[in-house]
Amino acid sequence: MKSVYLRNIMESRKKDHIDLTLRSQMSKESLNKKFNYEPALRAHPEAELPTINFLNKTLRLPVWVSSMTGGTEQARHINTNLAKVCREYGMGMGLGSCRPLLEDKSRFSDFNMRSVIGEDLPLLANLGIAQIEEILEKREIDKLLEMVNSLQVDGLFVHLNPIQEYLQPEGDRIRFSPIETLERLLEKVNFPVLVKEVGQGIGPKSLEALMDLNLAGIEFGAFGGTNFAQMELLRSDETKQKLLDPLAKIGHTAEEMIDYLNLLPYGIMNMKNIIISGGVNDWLEGYYLMQKLKYPAVFGQASAFLKYANGEYSQLSDYVLNLKKGLLLAHSYLTVRE
Ligand SMILES: Cc1cc2nc3c(=O)[nH]c(=O)nc-3n(C[C@H](O)[C@H](O)[C@H](O)COP(=O)(O)O)c2cc1C
Repeated sequence: MKSVYLRNIMESRKKDHIDLTLRSQMSKESLNKKFNYEPALRAHPEAELPTINFLNKTLRLPVWVSSMTGGTEQARHINTNLAKVCREYGMGMGLGSCRPLLEDKSRFSDFNMRSVIGEDLPLLANLGIAQIEEILEKREIDKLLEMVNSLQVDGLFVHLNPIQEYLQPEGDRIRFSPIETLERLLEKVNFPVLVKEVGQGIGPKSLEALMDLNLAGIEFGAFGGTNFAQMELLRSDETKQKLLDPLAKIGHTAEEMIDYLNLLPYGIMNMKNIIISGGVNDWLEGYYLMQKLKYPAVFGQASAFLKYANGEYSQLSDYVLNLKKGLLLAHSYLTVRE
């Protein structure tokens, strides 16, 4: 019985191969020249990737769900799906800006993802540098501590977004250098603080100054994907759009940021938790970037997860399953060409 079944499958496969041959031609120009492909050196991969430590927790997949949303009914659905998929595959997650929680707890459940993601995986809160300035100026550090405690997060992302804030009609003004503000913050809190950009990346001098602080790590939020300067311009009038359009094209790609970090002294990079993100289009690019960095890192995505998190959970879970399969194969058969 089984052999008839296998014979039928084989026959249908042979037929598929004949039917699909013409559609399966690749041009030589389409070759991805970033990798060497080594089919002779390894067996098929095990079911799991090597684990990676992040903020003293263990990730089973070197992938991060970048900070996105909170503060609306839809956000609760999205965050719950994202936290659930992190739990299923062993990934970490950043919450979107938790600013609404500083004043009012009515939207707490949109952000309250600890019970969904579980105790064992990293979950981080998120605030802008302008809010941190304000908290410090008004001596309201207790509000921040209360927020971090009630969310049961492993630490806080502070996002640096001066261009976005400046372009936003209702945006905040940043009155001190972020380095100064972060130094003041780090003196007052004992939970891990990480810094991120939101889609334009971070230049070499800022990176060095940031890494020199007692931060627990960094997320790139590099140029090449979602761009908040562009988003703010799209929200504004036509004249402003035209005149300020060049600002949306300023920044640093993830690959450039990797080069900057690789050049920094080991002493200031040691023990930093690193998330390579911003325009990381797929698992192969993520794998490539992780291999290029001298330090252990994970890669992060925002918009790619959002595409699936808004709908049925099964679509999001399938997306991550395929991403994991891709990474498993990459680990076994691909090395970066020098
Ligand atoms: C809908 C949406 C909301 C976002 N909200 C935040 C936020 O609240 N705080 C933050 O630090 N970054 C936020 N980001 C930026 C992302 O964390 C990430 O840095 C950026 O989108 C680049 O990643 P991508 O190219 O994979 O989308 C948001 C991104 C998206 C798409």
